[in-house]
Amino acid sequence: MGVPADNEDKIVVRGLEGVVAAETRISYVDGANGQLYYQGYSIHDLAEKTSFEEIVFLLWNARLPDRRELAALRSDLVSDMRLPSQVIKMIELTPPNAHPMSVLRTAISMLSMYDPDANLVSEDANSRKARNLVAQVPTIIADLNRIRAGKPVLSPDPELGIAGNFLYMMRGTPPDDQEQLVMDLLFMLHADHGLNASTFTARVIASTLSDMHSALAGAIGSLKGPLHGGANQRVMEMLDDIEHPERVQEYIQGMLENRQRIMGFGHRVYRTEDPRARHLRKYSEQLCNRTDKKHLYDISHRIEKIVTEAKGIYPNVDFYSATVQHALGIPTQFFTAVFAASRAAGWIAHVIEQYSDNRLIRPTSKYVGELGRSFVPLDRR
Ligand SMILES: CC(C)(COP(=O)(O)OP(=O)(O)OC[C@H]1O[C@@H](n2cnc3c(N)ncnc32)[C@H](O)[C@@H]1OP(=O)(O)O)[C@@H](O)C(=O)NCCC(=O)NCCS
Repeated sequence: MGVPADNEDKIVVRGLEGVVAAETRISYVDGANGQLYYQGYSIHDLAEKTSFEEIVFLLWNARLPDRRELAALRSDLVSDMRLPSQVIKMIELTPPNAHPMSVLRTAISMLSMYDPDANLVSEDANSRKARNLVAQVPTIIADLNRIRAGKPVLSPDPELGIAGNFLYMMRGTPPDDQEQLVMDLLFMLHADHGLNASTFTARVIASTLSDMHSALAGAIGSLKGPLHGGANQRVMEMLDDIEHPERVQEYIQGMLENRQRIMGFGHRVYRTEDPRARHLRKYSEQLCNRTDKKHLYDISHRIEKIVTEAKGIYPNVDFYSATVQHALGIPTQFFTAVFAASRAAGWIAHVIEQYSDNRLIRPTSKYVGELGRSFVPLDRR
């Protein structure tokens, strides 16, 4: 028995490459020219001149805030950073070897159960949940780090913004001016990036009119993978493994000969340098030199030269973010969770955009199995 012709005629687009699945105003990735825009603004114009809160406002409101609006958002977010005590208890109960992304995914699910509007998708409820979530994700990560280190969790400092508070609550020491600038930059550069895998996941979940916490929990699961946000942790592990700049040539050559992927390189959309890497490279160099980690920048720089020459592929956002995060004192296992803390702003913007003009996202597949197989009852199998 053959499959119907309409199935046979279907053309599968592997990895949905090039498939246009949504209209968006939130961000634009110009892969050919290596440019990234948030609501029409080039990230090169926003980088180092804006705080994470300005970017959050921009992504959610399609315009930059004035001073009063920015101050209000900053103070709302910082006061929303506290977690319910039950969620802190749950974090304490997680096994010490659980990956921070798994703890984060679980904590977001749990938070939904303490949110009275968890299942409401009204505009008011969504805008409150949006603020809560962007504020709470960094706290979950910081608290997990403190709990694992056997130290008490810290309350946010109202003088600091989200990025500065994240570093303070994670490490216990407030950031200096340069650390504050770099942490804001890191959060700002990761905040949104077109219809990437985790954003698509969030939009698929929202398209069933499921709630915002569910969309974020799904997106976190998607970001965790090494082909997506998980790459920054793998980059650091590779740098640690290489140890000395002199070993780079042999190590990378070996990987390329074995057709292994070099983490932090290549991109589905960019055909030239990832514009975010330009900013992170600069601060990787500055921070590594400042914190006596110069060898890590030297190793990274040599890897970039070899991989770019050999394969014609460029560093993506994850490559230099690894050494930047390391130099800021963030433990390697937490790198992808830091990415999630920033990307939560973009996921939420996309979830709200999806709700505003929703159509259930439900693609189809081409059936390649058999039809009409004869059934054999259990006692005759
Ligand atoms: C991001 C990524 C999944 C995009 O993959 P993609 O669009 O499917 O690209 P392809 O797998 O088609 O790769 C095209 C070619 O470049 C090579 N390539 C891509 N990324 C590579 C990498 N990181 N290291 C070595 N070779 C790579 C592929 O092997 C392929 O070469 P070939 O044509 O000789 O077989 C891929 O580049 C990758 O795995 N990178 C490493 C993980 C990473 O850094 N992820 C974070 C992304 S922001």
